[in-house]
Amino acid sequence: MNNPLSYDGKRVLVAGCFSGMGAATATIVKELGAHVTGFDIKRPEIAIDEFREVDARDDAAVRSAVDAVAANGPIDVLFYCAGLSPVHPDFDVILVNFLGLRETVEACVPHMPQGGAIATISSAAGMGYLASMPELAEFLALSSRDEQRRAIEAKTDQPGFNAYAFSKMCTIFYTLQRGATLAPETGVRINCISPGPTATPMMPDFVETAGKSYMDRYPRPLGGDATPEQQAWILAFLGSDLASYINGENLYTDGGTSGGVMTGSISAAALMPDAPS
Ligand SMILES: NC(=O)c1ccc[n+]([C@@H]2O[C@H](COP(=O)([O-])OP(=O)(O)OC[C@H]3O[C@@H](n4cnc5c(N)ncnc54)[C@H](O)[C@@H]3O)[C@@H](O)[C@H]2O)c1
Repeated sequence: MNNPLSYDGKRVLVAGCFSGMGAATATIVKELGAHVTGFDIKRPEIAIDEFREVDARDDAAVRSAVDAVAANGPIDVLFYCAGLSPVHPDFDVILVNFLGLRETVEACVPHMPQGGAIATISSAAGMGYLASMPELAEFLALSSRDEQRRAIEAKTDQPGFNAYAFSKMCTIFYTLQRGATLAPETGVRINCISPGPTATPMMPDFVETAGKSYMDRYPRPLGGDATPEQQAWILAFLGSDLASYINGENLYTDGGTSGGVMTGSISAAALMPDAPS
């Protein structure tokens, strides 16, 4: 029997391959047989076939790096794992977490064969997307960098706006919306995962922004934080032929927190920020 999780003969691009879930994904799919190219602003120490220094905030750099990779053969699977935590300036967070993601996806699509797959990372922080659909559709329709920047600057002045959560809601909305058009146009699937707390180099930033007591009391039905590898195996599954009928989907990989909050078995109050002391 053929192994449907095999990446033998597949050319894979991992954006955000330096650390965390991206490094784990690149390592796993390489072990599963893929030829792996990595993009990042930092050169990784993991064993992959090719590395290109690419800043996800720079559309032109993304497009030319994708074209250079595709000059050597098709891109069968794209994993977009680059991301910035909430400690960074709002528009950088939007650029790396969503606009760079969309640019990388759309740059890769013309080079992907029928049966290709894209899996990206949103976050359980994007859980509120259903309540924000019109706002998300409006932002996604903006095409110029100036308009996008102005829209985020205007939101930054609104009480309660969180650029990290907004970037993650944009990713979920885009994935659900694009899955319905991309597959019939090209035969390529697109999905995203929404992890909960995961033990990567980004974790200390969440402790810094949300507070240690908040992160300690954050509900974790499965116990502790996920490992980067636990998330990476799910990405590897979504990119593989095993997931050939999963498309336009956001998969919560938070151990059950989101489901509990949505259905009331976990109190939504558990996700409220700490009161100022
Ligand atoms: N760690 C968590 O608890 C958690 C939870 C939910 C979602 N996420 C999301 O998972 C994704 C991966 O994060 P991680 O936890 O593995 O953290 P990480 O910091 O280890 O990985 C982020 C990667 O993005 C790269 N990167 C940053 N800026 C870049 C840029 N301008 N251009 C290209 N690459 C850039 C980094 O070098 C790094 O390799 C992010 O989107 C993050 O928001 C993380």
